[in-house]
Amino acid sequence: MKQSTSLFFLAAVILANSAFAQQKKAASATDPKMDSFISNLMSKMTLDEKIGQLNLPAVGFDVTGPILSQGVDEKIEKGLAGGVFNTFTPQAVRKLQELAVTKSRLKIPLLFGYDVVHGHKTIFPIPLGLSTSWDMELIEKSARIAGREASADGLNWTFSPMVDISRDPRWGRISEGSGEDPYLGSLIGAAMVRGYQTNSLSNKDAILACVKHFALYGAAEGGRDYNTTDMSLIRMYNEYLPPYKAAIDAGAETVMVSFNDINGTPATANKWLLTDLLRNQWGFKGFVVSDYTGVSELVPHGLGDLQTVSAKALDAGTDMDMVAEGFLTTLKQSLKEKKITQQVIDQACRRILESKYKLGLFADPYKYVDEERAKTEILSPQNRLDARNIAAASMVLLKNNNQLLPLKKNAKIALIGPLANNKRDVIGNWSAAGDWKKAISVIEGLKNVAPDMDITYAKGANLVDNPAILKQINANGADIVADAKSPQQLIDEAVATAKKADIAVVVLGESALMGGEATSRTNLDLLPNQKDLLKALKLTGKPIVLVLMNSRPLTLDWEDANVPAILETWFSGTEAGNAIADVLVGNYNPAGKLTATFPRSVGQIPLYYNHKSTGRPYDGVSNEKFKSRYIDSSNEPLYPFGFGLSYTTFSFSPVKINKNTIKSGQTLEATIEVKNTGNFDGQEVVQLYLQDIYGSVTHPVKELKGFQKIFLKKGESKQVKFTIDTEMLKFYNTDLKFAAETGDFNVFIGPNSRDLSTAQFSFTL
Ligand code: BGC
Repeated sequence: MKQSTSLFFLAAVILANSAFAQQKKAASATDPKMDSFISNLMSKMTLDEKIGQLNLPAVGFDVTGPILSQGVDEKIEKGLAGGVFNTFTPQAVRKLQELAVTKSRLKIPLLFGYDVVHGHKTIFPIPLGLSTSWDMELIEKSARIAGREASADGLNWTFSPMVDISRDPRWGRISEGSGEDPYLGSLIGAAMVRGYQTNSLSNKDAILACVKHFALYGAAEGGRDYNTTDMSLIRMYNEYLPPYKAAIDAGAETVMVSFNDINGTPATANKWLLTDLLRNQWGFKGFVVSDYTGVSELVPHGLGDLQTVSAKALDAGTDMDMVAEGFLTTLKQSLKEKKITQQVIDQACRRILESKYKLGLFADPYKYVDEERAKTEILSPQNRLDARNIAAASMVLLKNNNQLLPLKKNAKIALIGPLANNKRDVIGNWSAAGDWKKAISVIEGLKNVAPDMDITYAKGANLVDNPAILKQINANGADIVADAKSPQQLIDEAVATAKKADIAVVVLGESALMGGEATSRTNLDLLPNQKDLLKALKLTGKPIVLVLMNSRPLTLDWEDANVPAILETWFSGTEAGNAIADVLVGNYNPAGKLTATFPRSVGQIPLYYNHKSTGRPYDGVSNEKFKSRYIDSSNEPLYPFGFGLSYTTFSFSPVKINKNTIKSGQTLEATIEVKNTGNFDGQEVVQLYLQDIYGSVTHPVKELKGFQKIFLKKGESKQVKFTIDTEMLKFYNTDLKFAAETGDFNVFIGPNSRDLSTAQFSFTL
């Protein structure tokens, strides 16, 4: 542990001169009015009140809504809470804010935080689904609507965006982020921050964003939640840190620390991470909150008792303690024992007060409790309409043999599966304030969109009947009860239904609660009972459209080999059913592209497109023994990063570049002609990848550096031009210097990370 700490120290020294340091955002000009207001306020605060600002208690829920807990009330009155989380509605928030600004000595208003992760009441697709739209405008819009609804419902702080890169679909939280790519993840993180915070936190509908989970949480060993991360600095800088940095550069006011250990020091107590990197190098000016009981979890991590770890966390740069109350109960003693300084307490307190000031809470503590806004701005018809479009944009067509899709609007279909007539699951995990009863199921959606369709429904299988999974998710709110009919009866009924129809549309996948926090899986197949259903349906000989709802890439080798059409819909939110129906009948031509690789088997994980070569790369065909390959499986994924089909087809010309050499500061144009060669108008995401062929360090075989989502009418062609500049050639080298190296580069353009056309150019001095 000592060694890695000193390595961090060394790195920090090196980094003082690094590009991150050079790129450091100009420290946001301090606001003298704010500074003097806060200095004046702090001069009146007792030590207890200062420590109180660093405390973030949770307020519970019961079936009727937020519960105003007794203990929290008292703390607020004594000035012992900087904010609360899990409470919303103007009425509930007003009640607590009133306690703070009428009963507490200094009348400091509270922050109200909540996990508004993919929508507040109008729920959008889970973040992994949002990312597969590759549409920054829509993603920003989803965050804007979420921010508007949340701010109308009493909230001023969301614990989002989650920007953890993950290459491990065993990890249930892959659903909460944007997948495996740092470039795309950076764009999305920044778009979400803009959406939540607007151009000024003083706006009445702006809320604080919180970039989480800092850092490297998505790389937990074995895909097991909360697990250790051990990673080289060069990998961190090139592959995992960029989205956090991008979200911070976009102005995110707060950061949440991750639960995991990083190279021997858990993030919550990691001074290198929270101070050297985040503040000194990146110039972050907001405040840092621990994750839920992250401070007290440093005890089982093995860093000491509660008093020790609380002091370590504060000293490292964790400003606010979520739920653990380690700060509240021990910092005073630590100050007395000189284990921390007054200065670190003051600094954390000041940062939290600054955020409140920027929100305008001192000027108007009731800014967020306008009941009129709540009535008109939450779940409005327009919000639902936007959610429907955004949901459709997130869907990925994985397979469509013989143009089985789109369905005819008067088709005779058997609609089968435990997710076909289901509202509860479609809103997905972390849809905390979303009301599933307001969601649209697939059957409702089809009836809305295609009233002439002849639909017969059969459940076909229980959503989950694996006892271990059932036990776990039911204990945490899933409420899945086995059908009164036996599994065989369910299958028989579904088979009979399919036989009477022309096409079987089968809606399968995970329960929503099989994704999100603490839902790691070791097996990513469809659950066996659902697969049995699919196999029985296949024997009917009827064409099958498999509609998937799931939180993560699944292993779908059998399905891909046996089912002619597969549509990935993730959990797509309040309007899921309407959006799925829009896509199934072709009112919306799908254009989503995967942002996380779909492996063939769990044994291939981690599997990601921007991997390194090896000294013995496998060509995929030879029988040579000593190659980097599996003897029992292909190396290749089932569906690669960037992949997704359309109801139309597109052809891509070879890439043309306008010069073969560029020098520092120059640009080069890479052009490709894309033609819509099919029978529908459609959108295509044209993707640009680069590879630095030889370097002082090894490089990924390709890296996404740009993309354009274009619309082409049937028969239309378009030239798509990418400008490549020398910034795009830069990377963090072994000295953690962000620089480009001279030499040859491959440029690849195409519809996904596999099917690419290539050209080569050189970068010279
Ligand atoms: C999660 C965070 C979340 C927090 C508050 C934690 O368990 O890791 O993502 O924001 O709870 O609900």
